[in-house]
Amino acid sequence: MPGMEVFGAEERKEVMDVLETGALFRYGHEHIRKGMWKAAEFEAEVRRQTGANYAHAVSSGSTAVTSIMAAAGVGHGDEVVVPPYTFVAPIEAVFLAGALPVFAEIDESLCLSPEGIEKAVTPTTKAVLLIHMCGASADLDGIVAVCKKHNLILLEDCGQAMGATHKGKSVGLHGVAGAFSFDYFKITTCGEGGVTITNDEEIYKNIDYVADHGHTHLGNNRGMEDHFVMGSNFRMGEMNAGIGLAQMRKLPRILEQNRKNKKYLKDRLKEIDGLTFRKMADEAGDSATFLNFFVPTGEVAVKLFEQFAKDGVGGIANWYTNMYHFINQWDHIKEIKFPSKLAIHDLGAPQDYKNLSLPKSEDVISRLICIGISCTWKEEELAAYTDKVIASIRKVL
Ligand SMILES: Cc1ncc(COP(=O)(O)O)c(C=O)c1O
Repeated sequence: MPGMEVFGAEERKEVMDVLETGALFRYGHEHIRKGMWKAAEFEAEVRRQTGANYAHAVSSGSTAVTSIMAAAGVGHGDEVVVPPYTFVAPIEAVFLAGALPVFAEIDESLCLSPEGIEKAVTPTTKAVLLIHMCGASADLDGIVAVCKKHNLILLEDCGQAMGATHKGKSVGLHGVAGAFSFDYFKITTCGEGGVTITNDEEIYKNIDYVADHGHTHLGNNRGMEDHFVMGSNFRMGEMNAGIGLAQMRKLPRILEQNRKNKKYLKDRLKEIDGLTFRKMADEAGDSATFLNFFVPTGEVAVKLFEQFAKDGVGGIANWYTNMYHFINQWDHIKEIKFPSKLAIHDLGAPQDYKNLSLPKSEDVISRLICIGISCTWKEEELAAYTDKVIASIRKVL
């Protein structure tokens, strides 16, 4: 959870700047804002660090996904390939957009695999919503190739992967657009927030409109701005943007420290026979927020989690049983439960969600052990923590 770990004076200063003027809204109000435009500065910093031509701040990672889908023309009745392992937000976004999720297999990269996508594609598939899980990129070379072959729109949910790159290019720039989360648990946080990036001007304009009731943001009379499309309120406020800006400025230091700490932990765990590590499409571009490894079987994983609990070893996630990250716990989604009627209730589901067979994903997630990396670990602290982790593993393996 690096973002929250490094919250400090820089973030407070940005918030105080905003509080001193009272210009809480990102648009207009020039007469009170003393030249401060935090959301615009935040977006400029995101562009600078990701290399994107365009960035647009929004209210959450969830609304970022909604915005890029809408901007790319993915909506009512469109089949969208999604993974069964992700925080639930992007799956919900697909349903709420009126689109139809098609679950495909992940592999040891923890993300959709090119083969998984290929098997799920039908003549009516419109898009792939690729989710770069746990801070590192999916196999983008293979996935971009499959999307090109089948003429699919590639959308990237980089909610957990700010700072991650694939072959030198930021995640989020390998398809049409990328969506990032700045919620409290992310590598860079502003409490609640999100940002979208793209190199496509038309997509950027659509995101800008959709995130603010269709406002074109041209001229200086908000009430008289033209509108080409409808939208909603996905705006980010100036205080959140100020915090996001301070956090983005800290990102290079967070990445450096994460990578150093993760390398130490991984190098030591490599000494244990029987462990294998997450498949990385480009390890150099990993934001290193998590160390993911596999034990030989799901039964061993259950025993190991019990051992960690007994030994008081914290900071390790069991995504197989977590209610929000793996499809085996998503009965409400498989039953398509929502208080009101969704498009899919009329159109019909493209798969029998209740009887899905995803053996590869099931195997991968049941064997997965995921350790959160702290960027504030001192050397001795990290060494002592690693000793404890290894001791627990040795008791089980
Ligand atoms: C991959 C992914 N996408 C989207 C989101 C949603 O982000 P938010 O909580 O900012 O709405 C999350 C949040 O955990 C996430 O992990």
